[in-house]
Amino acid sequence: MWWDTQATPQGVFGVPEDDYQLFTDRQTEFILDTLEPWKNDRIGDIGCGIGRLLAAMRSRQSDLQLVGVDPSPRMLAQAALVAPPLTLIRNEDGREIHGMPRLNGAYSVLTFQHVVDSTVALILSDVAEALWIRSKFVAQWLIGAPDNTGPMSYPRTLEQIESLLFTTGFSDVEFVPDWNVTRYSEEWVWTVAR
Ligand SMILES: C[S@@+](CC[C@H](N)C(=O)[O-])C[C@H]1O[C@@H](n2cnc3c(N)ncnc32)[C@H](O)[C@@H]1O
Repeated sequence: MWWDTQATPQGVFGVPEDDYQLFTDRQTEFILDTLEPWKNDRIGDIGCGIGRLLAAMRSRQSDLQLVGVDPSPRMLAQAALVAPPLTLIRNEDGREIHGMPRLNGAYSVLTFQHVVDSTVALILSDVAEALWIRSKFVAQWLIGAPDNTGPMSYPRTLEQIESLLFTTGFSDVEFVPDWNVTRYSEEWVWTVAR
């Protein structure tokens, strides 16, 4: 699959090298501050790629059970090298995460702008089902007018994002502006949903 050819830091996270650590730190801080996980909590990374955030999460809070989900075998192989004790669940098209264990929290970063609505909806339903009641799902989205001109670009309006979350099992959705990556792209936003 195409993502197998992108299993490098630059491939999955196309920012200048100097900023890689800074952005990773800020994203990790936001996720941990929002999820506030307890010791031994099981946290899912949806679209984990090469494990950039899994490794950062583990280094900040080593007592978490991390579950990485990605359709690319090469991405998952890289992630396993970055942080060996991870549980990695492979999914080809968003459907295969039904086997996912119950989660105390989940996050998805820089992923949904690559994924069509119908697959995002499947992923969101699975995450909603896997989360324990009142657990949170933090996701990062690219904001923009609907644009189906490029296969890898699915920006969405706030209304579309809200609708995707509400129709897939989430009942409480908060938008939080993401100032960390705006200088590289139009506009990004976090959702915190449960
Ligand atoms: C830009 S990378 C981001 C990786 C990682 N979240 C990060 O921030 O470093 C996008 C990731 O989305 C994954 N992806 C693509 N389609 C997916 C799907 N249907 N379900 C889950 N992940 C998917 C790709 O394999 C890739 O690893």
